[in-house]
Amino acid sequence: MKYGEYLIPSVQLIDLKGRRAMITGAAAGIGKAMALRFADAGADCILLDIDETGLLSVREELQTMGGRASTVRVDLRGKEEIDALWMGLSDEGLPDILINNVGVYALKDYLEIDEDFLDTTLAVNLESVFWMCQRFIQRRLKSGGIIVNVSTIEALLPFKKDLVAYGTSKAAVIALTRALARDYGPHGFRLNVILPGAIKTPSTKRLMKMAIQRARLDLIKTGYDFQSRLALGRWGNPDEVARVALFLSSELATYVQGAVIPVDGGFLSS
Ligand SMILES: NC(=O)c1ccc[n+]([C@@H]2O[C@H](COP(=O)([O-])OP(=O)(O)OC[C@H]3O[C@@H](n4cnc5c(N)ncnc54)[C@H](O)[C@@H]3O)[C@@H](O)[C@H]2O)c1
Repeated sequence: MKYGEYLIPSVQLIDLKGRRAMITGAAAGIGKAMALRFADAGADCILLDIDETGLLSVREELQTMGGRASTVRVDLRGKEEIDALWMGLSDEGLPDILINNVGVYALKDYLEIDEDFLDTTLAVNLESVFWMCQRFIQRRLKSGGIIVNVSTIEALLPFKKDLVAYGTSKAAVIALTRALARDYGPHGFRLNVILPGAIKTPSTKRLMKMAIQRARLDLIKTGYDFQSRLALGRWGNPDEVARVALFLSSELATYVQGAVIPVDGGFLSS
């Protein structure tokens, strides 16, 4: 193919060679798939998680594929650890891309929620994203950068019971992403948010197993109703979310800003 003046080859648009991508919650599930996918696209990855053993095993898998990654064990629940993480990064070592994927999926009856439960859910799912974005933007204010945040379909359409705290935290991630996209777009920052749904990961598999083992008919019924809303008729795999994060982080998406993108097999489509 002969490329004209303005037509950049597609493989170049998706190529992340020379870029550094920081991914939170990278030891398992969607975060692990993102690590593998971004490394495959040529990015140097900085992988963060509280689970050090999981992180090291992801790094090993990624290196076997020929990818490059460093790992940092960090509890993203606390601002102090987040601040220390950014203090430890030199200007040359800063990421160009930040993927805020970390999240805890804790269920509790709304009337039984106490301060500890709410604090933990908000700290991991919302505050970590808030502070990570702030540090990233502060440190890259002159050069700009790319942020992809991870929310959930539950933020737009509460479906499963006992997810009030989770849905609240994740709805705020959408508001945060859109507000930052507006405020910092002119400074060269691109921010978008992905809403996964029905993705087979260790977390969702654990929940399904628990519902069956404890014969929780209410959860089994919700699972059935949930499945029947999936326009594609199947659950997704973590790499199908990772591919969308890669698209948003690449030159394919240079004019996508403040978008809220479901990756849910059509759950929100009908
Ligand atoms: N799986 C789904 O169907 C689905 C649906 C909607 C949204 N999501 C969102 O996608 C993201 C990833 O989900 P997943 O299913 O892969 O989750 P997962 O539980 O499989 O993986 C989450 C990772 O985050 C890490 N983590 C948890 N608490 C941490 C902390 N305090 N500090 C650092 N790391 C911590 C865990 O160790 C784990 O490696 C989450 O934000 C989740 O809310 C997932």
